[in-house]
Amino acid sequence: MLYQDLADRLQGLIRQQVYPVGTSLPGVRRLSEQHSVSVSTAVNACQELERRGLLEAKPRSGFFVLQAPVRREPPRLSLVSKTPRPVTGQERVLHLAQAVRDTSIVNLGAAVPNPDLMPVAALERSFRTVLREQRRRCVGYEFPPGAPELRTQIARRLAAVQCHVTPDQILVTNSCHESLSIALKLITKPGDTVVLDSPTYYGLLQVIESLGLKALEIPTDPVTGISIEALSLALERWDIAACVLIPNFSNPLGVLLSDERKQALLKLMSKHRVPLVEDDIYGDLPFSGKRPRPIKSWDTEGIVYYCSSSSKTLSAGLRVGWLVPGKDNKRAEALQYMNTVAVSTPSQLAMAHYLEHGHYDRFLRSVCSEHARSVARMTDRVTQLFPAQTRVSRPAGGFVLWVELPGDVDTLELMEKSFAAGVSFAPGALFSASGKFGNCLRLNCAVRWDARVERALLALARLI
Ligand SMILES: Cc1ncc(COP(=O)(O)O)c(C=O)c1O
Repeated sequence: MLYQDLADRLQGLIRQQVYPVGTSLPGVRRLSEQHSVSVSTAVNACQELERRGLLEAKPRSGFFVLQAPVRREPPRLSLVSKTPRPVTGQERVLHLAQAVRDTSIVNLGAAVPNPDLMPVAALERSFRTVLREQRRRCVGYEFPPGAPELRTQIARRLAAVQCHVTPDQILVTNSCHESLSIALKLITKPGDTVVLDSPTYYGLLQVIESLGLKALEIPTDPVTGISIEALSLALERWDIAACVLIPNFSNPLGVLLSDERKQALLKLMSKHRVPLVEDDIYGDLPFSGKRPRPIKSWDTEGIVYYCSSSSKTLSAGLRVGWLVPGKDNKRAEALQYMNTVAVSTPSQLAMAHYLEHGHYDRFLRSVCSEHARSVARMTDRVTQLFPAQTRVSRPAGGFVLWVELPGDVDTLELMEKSFAAGVSFAPGALFSASGKFGNCLRLNCAVRWDARVERALLALARLI
């Protein structure tokens, strides 16, 4: 839908005051030249903006800006439980994950990019090459720490963001989930307390539940990130075994911590001698500017356990992740071996081949702008269709949006009705150990925008 793209672009320009209220847009011929589209696409885009209430057509004078798009407030800072508590009930997430396979449901729930937004053809070429050139190796185990060529590629990419780790310090795992699990096994024992953002990624709560740990949620500002003051108080008050953070484009809020805050957090953890588990799975997906540095890049003491994977960029199906443990490399390798013995050899070799030959940076440039556009479009749709007091996050990267609904809507309850209407979303309560955020939901924006997605959003808005 080319005209929708142009309408979104023009809406952005109206929001940025390039065309303030009361002024006219260039004529449709000019618009078609400026944006390299046909005149009829330009006409359709203006009519779309008329339907959105932003433009008014005046006979023989063109389209005038009637009002600027509404800008939603970001969600509010959460009031969270002040004591550590065990995590339960995370098995509910599986239902959400299984919906991804159901083609009758539009997936706005699980944070899985549509395959069109992954380099499927280039990965296929890499798989073919390694299966042809290294077929004997591909049928064998690639025991921990994993394929040297992949660890070398990962070390090179980390070096580009000033994170200097050698290939021997990197352990290949089956996923970021496994990296988080190994990191927490290395530094905690059952019953220990772990501090986290609130809201936080539900998979992390699953790891905490499965290891018998307790969670202490720290209030997180949807714009600036975790409250360092509250974290500092928690570290004074409680015996904390580890802190787990997603500093680059967190899930679900999309917050990017500034370099100053990253360094302040590292200093705080170092002062209290508490290890920091860093989940950097979205770090390669900024909407603009440079790829941000991970906290690990400032770590001179080995207190940061760095976790990531290919799931949000190249392919979730590869099941390839990695971990740079702060210190205990040998124990980490042993744990990975005891967990799952090894990681798929073809997946490791194909990923190494892709990173070396597949033009990953070029792919990232294009996919990041796709995600930025989709998130902007989703924000617009939520603003138009959801109730007036709805609040929406302003992610700086990644591809998920966090929505806070007004009133006492229970999004867990809404989920079943929404599935029946053919659309999934992630209910807010899954992102908290203490059942907060019942009136919130997370939307996956990495979809292929078409009439089905538009209809799904409309159906969801009606249910709300
Ligand atoms: C912040 C975060 N960490 C980890 C994961 C899990 O990734 P993987 O598929 O590599 O286990 C996800 C997936 O949603 C995520 O959002």
